[in-house]
Amino acid sequence: MNNEVFNFDFKVYDSIEELSDQDAELLREARKVTQFAYVPYSNFRVGAFAKLTNGKTVMGTNQENASYPAGICAERTLMSVASTLFPNVAIETIAISYDNLKGKSDHPISPCGICRQSLVEFQQRTDHPIRIILGGMEGNVQVIENAANLLPFSFSADDMKFKQKEK
Ligand code: THU
Repeated sequence: MNNEVFNFDFKVYDSIEELSDQDAELLREARKVTQFAYVPYSNFRVGAFAKLTNGKTVMGTNQENASYPAGICAERTLMSVASTLFPNVAIETIAISYDNLKGKSDHPISPCGICRQSLVEFQQRTDHPIRIILGGMEGNVQVIENAANLLPFSFSADDMKFKQKEK
């Protein structure tokens, strides 16, 4: 029997003021794009803004639906936009923020399980780790260097590889 441990480092900043200019700019943009979310059911606007490795930027917001499961999160909207406009280009850094119309927005939120799965596959297929900046409209900010840290033991296409036929 082996006792194994999973852990990872992440950075916590007291506020956006402590970030590098580049990271602060991404978080500011993520905060701004929350206004484009369509959230009549949750009143919880999420905004994502990313810089790609080709230098371009893309954004995404959550888009809800009266048939609730048909709604999509900001992160997956962003990944759809990124890989449609710039196929196979990696995401360097994604900033995620939110505006809770019925409450506070003073701490980081982190991507839901489905988005974590999608982020991990996106970084695998583009062969580049995704840096993640998480922060509300105010308050502390977390920076995570690799999306895979958010989903240990993730399932991937490699798990479904066919057995090689013996020749
Ligand atoms: N949501 C996101 O867009 N991203 C997250 O990381 C968490 C949740 C959305 C889904 C839904 O529209 C609303 O926030 C409330 O769950």
